[in-house]
Amino acid sequence: MIDKKIIWGVLLLCTMIFASCSNDGKVVFIQGEEPVGIDPNAPIQPLKDKAKFKIGAAVKFTTLQGDAKYKDAVLKNFSQITAEFEMKMATIWGSTSYNWTAPDNLVNFAKDNNLEVHGHTLIWYNSFPDWFKNQQNDSVAFEAKVKVYIKDVVGRYKGKVKSWDVVNEVFADGGALRDETVIKPIFKDPIGFYGRCFQYAREADPDAKLFYNDYSVVIDAGKRAAIKKMVARFKAKGYPIDGLGDQFHYSVNTNRQVMTTGFTDLASTGLLIHISELDIKVNVNKSDSYFFSDEEAQKQADTYKYIVEMYETLPQNQKFAITTWGVTDKYTWLTEAWNPKEYPLLFDIDYSKKAAYVGFLAGLK
Ligand code: G3I
Repeated sequence: MIDKKIIWGVLLLCTMIFASCSNDGKVVFIQGEEPVGIDPNAPIQPLKDKAKFKIGAAVKFTTLQGDAKYKDAVLKNFSQITAEFEMKMATIWGSTSYNWTAPDNLVNFAKDNNLEVHGHTLIWYNSFPDWFKNQQNDSVAFEAKVKVYIKDVVGRYKGKVKSWDVVNEVFADGGALRDETVIKPIFKDPIGFYGRCFQYAREADPDAKLFYNDYSVVIDAGKRAAIKKMVARFKAKGYPIDGLGDQFHYSVNTNRQVMTTGFTDLASTGLLIHISELDIKVNVNKSDSYFFSDEEAQKQADTYKYIVEMYETLPQNQKFAITTWGVTDKYTWLTEAWNPKEYPLLFDIDYSKKAAYVGFLAGLK
């Protein structure tokens, strides 16, 4: 009969269990090769139950349909969803007639599962369909067609989609207008066009919250200044805007003081603030031999916790949602856009909650 002490000793040697406790005293287990996340038996409070604002995730409807664990993770942990691509112009208006199948599926899924939907995104230079771009519209014709599109889309989901990214990513790094080939060549005053797009959305659904969304906002002072100038112009012209989104595609190395200074400046607008596409890169050097160690996982958890604590410093009336851009490392856009060895989200590829989840939870008040 092997002595029990030997069995325990062998067990402990077999797994390098690194246990750390989050603020709420729960234990986080990170084991051996890859952080496998939290001990499945540890009672971890779902984010959506603790948060005093929406906890969102970008989702793909086909994955919700095809992957039961993905759907389960969404339903148990999130209170809002954003369509990763189903509600973009390229999907709805891919040809001259609308295709409502994908957005309807997603909105119906949300309704059936008591989830809010954040509409993403009505106007994005990157999502205008080729057939529309090739029409060579002048500014009057272009705007007339976009006005109908906005009214048709926002009108269709009136009362079902509670908020919209009306316009996405119009400024380049530093704050100059982005040198894209769709709107800038057509309009002498692109900002005026964008302001009227907010007007069209408001007219289609007076109750929907209307956002401008961009990336690197809190770390790029020039871009943030341009956004604030646009907001001031909108207000002076009577164009409606309710909120600003920073996508927060950051990393464990993103300078925290810079982030905080920029976040405070963004909050000074008094608008709703949406952390709209949060994911935290760990493989910062895009190394093909990167190893997501326990220490790396803990750095990521600390970064999530820092960002959530920063968000919690907002007055309650400026809190809208924190949305992660995806659910699990299994499907993150970053494995293609950044490096195959990237683990930016709250759930690992087996849908175990990672230390990042506990870090996020610990940051919530
Ligand atoms: O579903 C179709 C499939 O049927 C088809 O065979 C395939 C090849 O054409 O395309 C599939 O659709 C792709 C879709 O993702 C779903 O995978 C689109 O081509 C592809 O363009 C789309 O990429 C999305 C991208 O935005 C462009 O819409 C990414 O998933 C999405 O993560 C990314 O998200 C953006 C935000 O909207 C704005 N901020 C940056 C962020 C990352 O780029």
